[in-house]
Amino acid sequence: MKFVALTSVVLAMVAMPMKAQKWEHLADTPQMGWSTWNKFQGNISEDVIKGIADAMVESGLKDAGYTYINIDDCWHGQRDADGFIQADPVKFPNGMKAVADYVHSKGLKLGIYSDAGTGTCANMPGSLGHEYQDALQYARWGVDYLKYDWCNTPNINPQGAYQLISDALRAAGRPIFLSMCEWGNSRPWKWAREIGHSWRTTPDIWCSFDSLRVFDAGYSQFGVMQCIQFNDSLRQYAGPGYWNDPDMLEVGNGMTESEDRAHFTMWCMMASPLILGNDLRNMSEATRNILMNKEMIAVDQDPLGVQGLHYCDHDGLQFWFKPLTDGRWAMAVLNPTRQDASYELNWQDFNLTDTEVSKRSTQFDTTVYSVFNLWTHRQEGKTQKKNKVERTITVKSHDVVAYLLTPWK
Ligand code: GLA
Repeated sequence: MKFVALTSVVLAMVAMPMKAQKWEHLADTPQMGWSTWNKFQGNISEDVIKGIADAMVESGLKDAGYTYINIDDCWHGQRDADGFIQADPVKFPNGMKAVADYVHSKGLKLGIYSDAGTGTCANMPGSLGHEYQDALQYARWGVDYLKYDWCNTPNINPQGAYQLISDALRAAGRPIFLSMCEWGNSRPWKWAREIGHSWRTTPDIWCSFDSLRVFDAGYSQFGVMQCIQFNDSLRQYAGPGYWNDPDMLEVGNGMTESEDRAHFTMWCMMASPLILGNDLRNMSEATRNILMNKEMIAVDQDPLGVQGLHYCDHDGLQFWFKPLTDGRWAMAVLNPTRQDASYELNWQDFNLTDTEVSKRSTQFDTTVYSVFNLWTHRQEGKTQKKNKVERTITVKSHDVVAYLLTPWK
């Protein structure tokens, strides 16, 4: 009897698909760091990575919460005789483990990049057929983060491919963050919660506030506003452990200061990953001030983990609300238009309930909040329970006004 029971347990185990659990608690709040891609594309090297790691620490960005140094596409050399991938020996003469050791010595973490298909988007070796071996190699090097792309994947099932690499990372034994980069084609927010820690919701961003860059090959890159628009409708799918990713930041890469501020603010309002894309070794004071706005970063990193709500539009202005811990809210007024705009603010117009995600209500009719301006860093009085215009706000073209609202005691 005992034998039969045991046998059937063993048989049941054999018959069960071996599905590992993804590494937990790597993404309780959206990931923060830097990536090579937006600024350097394939022009990367050990020196660049070390220099960026140094700058991350010296600039204060590490203390502000940015942790990952991510090497995107084009780090690859060949596979060795046993099939193990090696770093490009010219770009990384001391190998990838030496890079990981250096990054770790600075108190930072290292990210790397691969692709579920036969080749990466820049036609470097992909992981198809080498998933467990690649995961093992990354773990041996001391990698902490994997961005897993989706080029060259005809006839591959996305859910299966991402589950496979997730299982492989688990089996390799080192906690590695899995950043899925499938551009939202197969709606990963519907199926990837247990597989990855974030998933791209959009095509690639480029350094533009609101224009599409269309390529002859039939694909496009998105400006900041297109990324926001795509990501906006997906807030119900994000939360602690699994985030919508509208792509990496372009702050400091050539937009105006207003546009950079709006871009950064909206990524924080949407609880997006904050992966910097500029040259940290060489950034202006204005860029640094945007990236280091600790109160704004705290909006992104709030442990409640709710993606902000695009509540309404008035005269082209967008009004966004993000519920935070301790009954607080962040509010952002975004001006995507080409003109500066003023708005007469009556708090009673914003009595809203986030029925979709947090179930929280602003209740401006019964609760008074102190108003802290997240960009001037000044207190600006309180909200009023009265039904009347309380202030006029002016939002410059392609800019934001953002407030932290804290219940008044
Ligand atoms: C894809 C990704 C980008 C970047 C490039 C690298 O386009 O979406 O983020 O990783 O590949 O080739």
